[in-house]
Amino acid sequence: MKYALVTGGSRGIGRAITVKLAQEGYQVIINYTSNQTEAEKTLASINGQGELLPFDVSDNQQVRQALDDWQQRHPDDYIEVIVNNAGIRRDNVLALMPEADWHRVLDITLSGFFNVTQPLLPAMQMHKFGRIVNMASVSGLKGLPGQTNYSAAKGGVIAATKALAQEVARRGITVNAVAPGFIKTDMTEGLDEASLKKLIPANRFGTPEEVADLVAFLVSPQAGYITGNVISINGGMYT
Ligand SMILES: NC(=O)c1ccc[n+]([C@@H]2O[C@H](COP(=O)([O-])OP(=O)(O)OC[C@H]3O[C@@H](n4cnc5c(N)ncnc54)[C@H](OP(=O)(O)O)[C@@H]3O)[C@@H](O)[C@H]2O)c1
Repeated sequence: MKYALVTGGSRGIGRAITVKLAQEGYQVIINYTSNQTEAEKTLASINGQGELLPFDVSDNQQVRQALDDWQQRHPDDYIEVIVNNAGIRRDNVLALMPEADWHRVLDITLSGFFNVTQPLLPAMQMHKFGRIVNMASVSGLKGLPGQTNYSAAKGGVIAATKALAQEVARRGITVNAVAPGFIKTDMTEGLDEASLKKLIPANRFGTPEEVADLVAFLVSPQAGYITGNVISINGGMYT
C-alpha cells in the first residue's frame, strides 16, 4: 500500500487533497489539530481509505511521537508523500501585530514544515522515492500588506523548498511548493469576495479541488523531473 500524509487534512484544501489522493490509490493519513468532527467527515468521505493522525505541527515532540507511533503500527510501510498543508493566518499590520501572532504563524507554517518533513526523509531516501509538496501562497511570493507574518512564513517555506529539493533530488525525491491565490475555504470566509475578485483575471476564487488536482500531479511518478519549483494557482493574478 502507498501512504500519503496530508497535514491540515480535516478541512478546506487539505480535505480536497485527501479525497483526490485517495482516488489515486493512496492510503491517506489525515492530520489535524483540533477539529475532530471535520476530520472524521473527511475520513468518511474517502470510505475509511486512511486514518486520522492528530498532532500540532508546530510541536516537534508531538509530531515525532505521532509519527513514531504510526511507524510502529506499520512496520513494513513508509510514507512516500507528504503534503505540508496545515496553516493559519493571523492578519494585522506589523505595527499592531501581537508578538504571539507573529510566532504562531511562523511556528505552524515554517517550523511545521521542518517538524513533519525531517523525520520522514530517511525512509524516502532509503526507498529512493518520495514526494513533498508544501502549501505556500501568493503572499509568500509577493508579500501582502497586513500579512507580514504569513508572508514571511510562506516565503520561508518557498526558500526551504528550493534548498531541500537540491539536497534530495538524487534520491528520487521531489520537493515543490504550490502557491494559491484566493481559494474558497474557511480561511477566506470573512473576506470581501465581491471586491477581491475584481483583482483576479478569472473573476472568481479558486476551489480546493483545483488545488488538489495540481498537488496530485506533482506527487505522481510523471512529475519526477519537476523539483524545487513554486507553482502558482491563482486565476491569472500574477505577482
Ligand atoms: N484558502 C486560501 O485562499 C489559501 C490561499 C493560499 C494559501 N493557502 C494555504 O493553504 C493551506 C490550507 O488552507 P485552507 O484555506 O484549506 O485552510 P483552513 O480551511 O482554515 O484549514 C486549515 C487546516 O489546517 C489545520 N491546522 C491548523 N493549525 C494546525 C496545526 N497547528 N497543526 C495541524 N493542523 C493544523 C486545520 O486543522 P483543524 O481542522 O483541526 O483546525 C485545518 O485542517 C494553508 O497552508 C493556507 O495558508 C490557502
